[in-house]
Order: sequence, then C-alpha cells, then structure tokens
Amino acid sequence: MTAAICPGTFDPITNGHLDVIKRASKYFDRFIVAVAARPDKMPLFNLRERVHMVSTTTKNLPNVDVEPFDTLLVDFAKSVGATSIVKGLRAISDFEYEFQMAQINQAMGEEIETFFMMASAEYTFISSSAVREVASYGGSIKGLVPGDIENELVEMFNSKFNSLEKGAV
Ligand code: COA
Repeated sequence: MTAAICPGTFDPITNGHLDVIKRASKYFDRFIVAVAARPDKMPLFNLRERVHMVSTTTKNLPNVDVEPFDTLLVDFAKSVGATSIVKGLRAISDFEYEFQMAQINQAMGEEIETFFMMASAEYTFISSSAVREVASYGGSIKGLVPGDIENELVEMFNSKFNSLEKGAV
C-alpha cells in the first residue's frame, strides 16, 4: 500500500492547497493531510480549528485522512507508515526553501521521498497569509478558499479579528 503525507500549517486551508490535495491524492492508496501545530508561526486559527477546516474540505475524498502533528515531519511520516511527502510549488520563489526542506528531510529519513506538484495556474497567487490579510480588511475571500468552509471561515475571521481588536484597546 502506498501512503503519502501532505504537510502544512493550513492557517487556513486555501483553494491552492485543495488543488494539490485533490490532484496528488489520486496517486496514493492513502493520503494523509498533516496539519502542523507550528506554535512558532503563531497561527491565527488553533490546531483543532485548522484540522476541522481541512477535514470538512476533504470529506468527499475517500482515501484522504487528516491528522494533526507536532513532531519532526519525518518522524510523523514514519509513525503513520508513509514513505512519501507531497508539497505544492507555486513559483520559483518557493523552490529554494522547499529544496532545502526536502534535503533536510532526506538527511533525517532517507527512505522518505519528497514529491513536488506544480500548483495549477489559477491558484499560484494564493497563500494563507494573503487570505488572512484580505479577510482582516473585510474583503471577499470567495474563490480563495474552498466553498465548503467559506461562510464558516468568514464568521471565524470576524470573531478572531473582533477579539484581537478588543485585546488591542
Ligand atoms: N497553494 C497555495 N498556498 C500554498 C501551497 C499551495 N499548494 N503550498 C504552500 N502554500 C503556502 C501556504 O499558504 C503558506 O502561506 P503563508 O506563509 O503566506 O501563510 C506558505 O505557503 C507556507 O506554507 P506552510 O503550510 O506554513 O508550510 P511550510 O512550507 O512552511 O512547511 C511544514 C510547513 C509543516 C511542512 C514544516 O514546517 C515542517 O515540516 N515542520 C515540522 C518540523 C520539521 O520536520 N522541520 C523540517 C526540518 S527543519
């Protein structure tokens, strides 16, 4: 059985992530979307919220599971029996960082291969931070995030940004 993990912070999941998940998951028997805790990045959404959003968005993909993790990526891959890591590449600017991560992961777990999938052209400009920024100014995130979670996400954004504003006063 082939198993792959697709790791990320998913703060929040975007249509760019979903595009890669849908396309890449066809090539593996089991495809695990691994949601990283990443406290160092101070995510806007907590781990439970991010796992919930990814799970809702991928619920119709039968071979896709969603798991949180808070360890080295290669250790997580080994713990779930995955020998492949799948990452999306949007532009040349992603390459250097991703290449370095792939090499570090290879040095720590040589039996685990990293595969890169080019983002579809219509999604290359999307990032989670762009979605957060648009939402923080009350802009529309339609088309940037999966339709399944758009309304819920707008509500979550409103409640997060309201509480941040109250905290700032
Ligand atoms: N479409 C759209 N956006 C995408 C994308 C895609 N296909 N792929 C990545 N992105 C964007 C994200 O939206 C995010 O945008 P933002 O920073 O503007 O918010 C950005 O790319 C970075 O993505 P992120 O999910 O934070 O991933 P990362 O490449 O920084 O790596 C882990 C995250 C979890 C894979 C990595 O931190 C990790 O492996 N952590 C575990 C510790 C470890 O083993 N480290 C390696 C050894 S040092």
